[in-house]
Amino acid sequence: VTAFEATHLGGVLALCTAEGWPTFPSDPHRALRALLAAGATTVVALDADGEVIGFAHALSDGVTIYLAELLVAPAHRHRGIGRRLVSELFDRCDAVRMDLITDSAEAFYASLPHRRYAGFRLYRLSGRAAEGGQR
Ligand SMILES: CC(C)(COP(=O)(O)OP(=O)(O)OC[C@H]1O[C@@H](n2cnc3c(N)ncnc32)[C@H](O)[C@@H]1OP(=O)(O)O)[C@@H](O)C(=O)NCCC(=O)NCCS
Repeated sequence: VTAFEATHLGGVLALCTAEGWPTFPSDPHRALRALLAAGATTVVALDADGEVIGFAHALSDGVTIYLAELLVAPAHRHRGIGRRLVSELFDRCDAVRMDLITDSAEAFYASLPHRRYAGFRLYRLSGRAAEGGQR
């Protein structure tokens, strides 16, 4: 697991596409800006050939982390990579808690130390919210 660099973008976008996550692949320049944004921490898991097999992207102020994306390639799941990526974010952000929403990985997050809250994802209030669909 290492810090995300621009050379990892293609691997990250390929993982998103395979998972059916369209937001980053639909605009690679915006994706790169987001992954490298001030206040963002992005880490990648690489295989022995340097291919991206997982990534995690989060925003933090050094107290709370907001987890934006976490994804491990299907062939590499259940080997502790997801857990490692989460741990790496805590270390790099030096934060005390991580908040997130999920509808696909409850069992994974429940396997980590946690408390449960109800979550919401809000969208822009103007008509422009529909631009590109709501994700
Ligand atoms: C969620 C995800 C990142 C987990 O990555 P991973 O590398 O498989 O996770 P780990 O191997 O570190 O799992 C640690 C533990 O979490 C639990 N766990 C992980 N995935 C699980 C699943 N699908 N069902 C039940 N428990 C699971 C297990 O206790 C696991 O330990 P074990 O494999 O020894 O039983 C991965 O499944 C994934 O990319 N899913 C699709 C994308 C997604 O839903 N991301 C989260 C969006 S909010």
